[in-house]
Amino acid sequence: MIINNTSSTSIREIEPGGSLNGKVKVPGDKSISHRALLFGAISEGETTIQGLLPAEDPISTARCLRSMGVNISPIKQGELIKVQGVGLDGLQEPEKILDCGNSGTTMRLLLGLLVGRESRHFVLTGDSSLRKRPMKRIGNPLTMMGGKVHGRSKGEFAPLSVIGRQLHGAVIGTPVASAQIKSAILLAALTAEGTTTVIEPANSRDHTERMLKAFGANIKVSGEMGRHITLKSGENLKGTKVIVPGDISSAAFWLIAGALIPESDITIENVGLNPTRTGVLEIAEQMGINFNLQNKKEVAGEPVGDINVVYSRYLKAFNLDNEIMPRLIDEVPILIVAACFCEGTTQITGASELRVKETDRLKVMTKQLTKMGANIVENPDGLKIKGIRKLIGADVDSETDHRVAMSLAIASLLAHGKSTITRSDAAYVSYPEFWNDLARLKS
Ligand code: S3P
Repeated sequence: MIINNTSSTSIREIEPGGSLNGKVKVPGDKSISHRALLFGAISEGETTIQGLLPAEDPISTARCLRSMGVNISPIKQGELIKVQGVGLDGLQEPEKILDCGNSGTTMRLLLGLLVGRESRHFVLTGDSSLRKRPMKRIGNPLTMMGGKVHGRSKGEFAPLSVIGRQLHGAVIGTPVASAQIKSAILLAALTAEGTTTVIEPANSRDHTERMLKAFGANIKVSGEMGRHITLKSGENLKGTKVIVPGDISSAAFWLIAGALIPESDITIENVGLNPTRTGVLEIAEQMGINFNLQNKKEVAGEPVGDINVVYSRYLKAFNLDNEIMPRLIDEVPILIVAACFCEGTTQITGASELRVKETDRLKVMTKQLTKMGANIVENPDGLKIKGIRKLIGADVDSETDHRVAMSLAIASLLAHGKSTITRSDAAYVSYPEFWNDLARLKS
């Protein structure tokens, strides 16, 4: 295998062959990293963050918060990050447009945070991908609390603008199980009058609930499936110490690569194993992937452990539906690659949310893997993938999507013949060391 970065459009050449072996520490969880910065910013006193993901997306969150007067120490690999909180209502009106880059989490959670900052004006935008992503799903529930978000196409698309107002509590049922919608409402609820309850159709990732509790918010969670999350305002947040586990969404690339590439044996260390995120492990078990969890423990309110995976000769096709979707939403691109190498046909349904991620991931993965000879039929809410157990090297393109770039890298390692991946640097959005880790696991 040659990994060769050949030009400014970040075209990488990948030749298959060989195995992946050794230990890898994936970078910090992206969702937890954003939240640690945001909650630290609106707390009283200092928050320290260990293991923050030093990638483009959390850097966008930090850049926006700095523009509103929050002091955040430089974000560098391996450094403890310090956030000097300005308190619940201390964010200043920024002089500049808040640039959220490629990060949907930054834009959506900031909307929740800013809509209640009375009589201050905020304008938010992002790159061409983010400017195409739906934002009314945040604006609508915030309107129910007395807020208002303006944007293109009647508030659907950025650039967006907000003039903060005093909000009131509400009971809000969210139409999709989205942690971003839930988190935006809970951030708005911190300064809304009274009590706010969010009811989800299915349980999305619960990092916000766990972390708000740790920062001292008055938050209660009840029910099992489709939880009720209730937040009562009036409590100030207190700066705390956050330890960010490794991102299971980044670990998923090595889990699948280790299972599919002959003679591989990889240990992925310190991975977050929050049960709202471990759908990929449930599916790995169904597929017959040979993996086990080691050193399981709880660190700063989140379960973590190491994942050891070895080559697994025979893998069975699997099904993904709307029940499991929230627990593995970001892992679908790499699971599509895995499905190409399974015995039988994989059916993915209930996945229309994939169409409004950084790219339309159902369309882009189908288009790119079809160039490699995959047998995929695209449906409105999912895919049907026939496991042909073989791909052919091709010239593919991430279309600027970080998870597509990394999924295509693993597909290229498994293909017959050389592949090139255009816009491979998209990986830096969530995994800055991806290409280096790949080269190291190969050697
Ligand atoms: C995220 C929630 C998910 C996920 C995204 C990060 C978060 O999005 O896909 O990468 O940090 O809350 P949705 O809330 O839109 O499902």
